[in-house]
Amino acid sequence: MKKLIVANWKMNPQGLLEAKKLFLSIKNWIKKNSTLLKKTEIIICPPFVYLAPLSKLLKPKNYNLKPKLGAQDLFWAKMGAFTGEISPKMLKNLGVEYVILGHSERRHILKETDEMIAKKLEAAIKNKLKPILCIGETEKERKSGKTFKILKNQLNSAIQNLKPTTYNLKPIIIAYEPVWAIGTGNPCKPEDAKEVLIFLKKLTQSSVLYGGSVNSQNAKDYIEVGFDGLLVGGASLNKKEFIKIIKNSL
Ligand code: PGA
Repeated sequence: MKKLIVANWKMNPQGLLEAKKLFLSIKNWIKKNSTLLKKTEIIICPPFVYLAPLSKLLKPKNYNLKPKLGAQDLFWAKMGAFTGEISPKMLKNLGVEYVILGHSERRHILKETDEMIAKKLEAAIKNKLKPILCIGETEKERKSGKTFKILKNQLNSAIQNLKPTTYNLKPIIIAYEPVWAIGTGNPCKPEDAKEVLIFLKKLTQSSVLYGGSVNSQNAKDYIEVGFDGLLVGGASLNKKEFIKIIKNSL
């Protein structure tokens, strides 16, 4: 199982030039360090509008040292009257391989429901996109001892449309992202994250990533307790910091 380091750029940067610059600096670093990265996959998830121009920077197709591209969301329908939405096929056609689903910012700000996430997960799998399913508890839920229950419910709801209904669906990558740790500079303590990791590994054979205020200083701690990789938000927008995160996770 390859270690996965995922960059979630969220709604950044504001211009294509900047996006290309950041992407190319990571791509070039990967090229120079290919021997170090044999067992690591770097996945860049930019905003939708940058996927096409960035995918052009990955050609030729047999260039295997490239970072992989991921989307930050998708819509479940094949095509049609869904203003503003992006279909799985559109992503596939651009060479996108991964898709983040159920991110807490979408769950909380856009009120994305478990049912919507389940439809998206099903669509991703049907279209052979590798889903990175985000799950995580709020601070209130953690304080009231509900973390495991919440995580299990989120997983159960996400896979409700899949047959057979089993956690052992290899293509699903799980990202444990405690809501209170995202973008707050207050990461989950590695020993607490480890408890969750053990719980999730009992339920599933999926790769499990940690996300929430990951930086170059703490990245190693999550790998050391056994996570299969990291989902990095804010720190992935700074090329030096992101490269340090990759190096410290090897
Ligand atoms: P953060 O975001 O690293 O900025 O906390 C992580 C995420 O939301 O995926």
